[in-house]
Amino acid sequence: MEKKLRIAIDGPAGAGKSTVAKIVADKLSYVYIDTGAMYRALTYKALQQDVNLHDEVALAALLRETKIALQITPHGQDVILDGQNVSAEIRSSAVTNNVSFVATPQTVREEMVDRQQQLAAAGGVVMDGRDIGTHVMPEAELKVFLIASVEERAKRRYDENMAKGFETDFEKLKEEISLRDKRDSEREFAPLKKADDALELDTTSMSIDEVVEAILRMVTERA
Ligand code: CDP
Ligand code: CDP
Repeated sequence: MEKKLRIAIDGPAGAGKSTVAKIVADKLSYVYIDTGAMYRALTYKALQQDVNLHDEVALAALLRETKIALQITPHGQDVILDGQNVSAEIRSSAVTNNVSFVATPQTVREEMVDRQQQLAAAGGVVMDGRDIGTHVMPEAELKVFLIASVEERAKRRYDENMAKGFETDFEKLKEEISLRDKRDSEREFAPLKKADDALELDTTSMSIDEVVEAILRMVTERA
């Protein structure tokens, strides 16, 4: 039987992590874990409860009393926050533009990493985020760092919004993506960073299928 690997996929916003991670997990019959959804769920709850997003103690206390479950469905993954399905709500622009504040404090991150490590304990996982290769699964057998130009990443998000029928300002979208990347890369604890042993893949001119194939080749080399 082939070895069940732990696959870590990190990179900036819109690099294609979740799209590609989902397909790779499906092809390998692995579990997909979207760690960004966990930070988004906490952000959604903090906004709902008017918690100060810059108050580390309040955020850590909120997380301790919060249950976040990721449920695999035929069409992807549902995010269940304290028993409520918030899969759509956590994608709002209010959550997107505030999530990197909630993801900054060390106490919040340590608790999240602990929960994510429990989810990954059995192996056979594809996990995507910002600190998977560096903090959550430093022993992962395969680490991939996906990048693409900010222009291309904004275009992908723009096309995604248009397909859903949302009119979007491209320049504003580009600015928001750059700002979130900056906050994620510059935070003191567990910033967005390529692990030393991660393989970097520039997907700027690659299709989703090409990226998936490249990762599956890396898996074959390691299994
Ligand atoms: O899919 P998208 O690139 O928009 O972001 P996401 O993966 O849903 O993550 C949302 C935010 O959560 C990121 O911008 C980070 O601030 C935070 N995050 C993190 O800090 N560490 C992770 N492992 C995953 C997400
Ligand atoms: O998870 P992350 O923020 O890294 O990106 P994503 O949400 O998986 O991908 C953003 C968008 O880019 C999606 O609409 C994908 O279909 C698209 N995409 C693409 O057009 N070409 C790729 N090579 C990868 C993703």
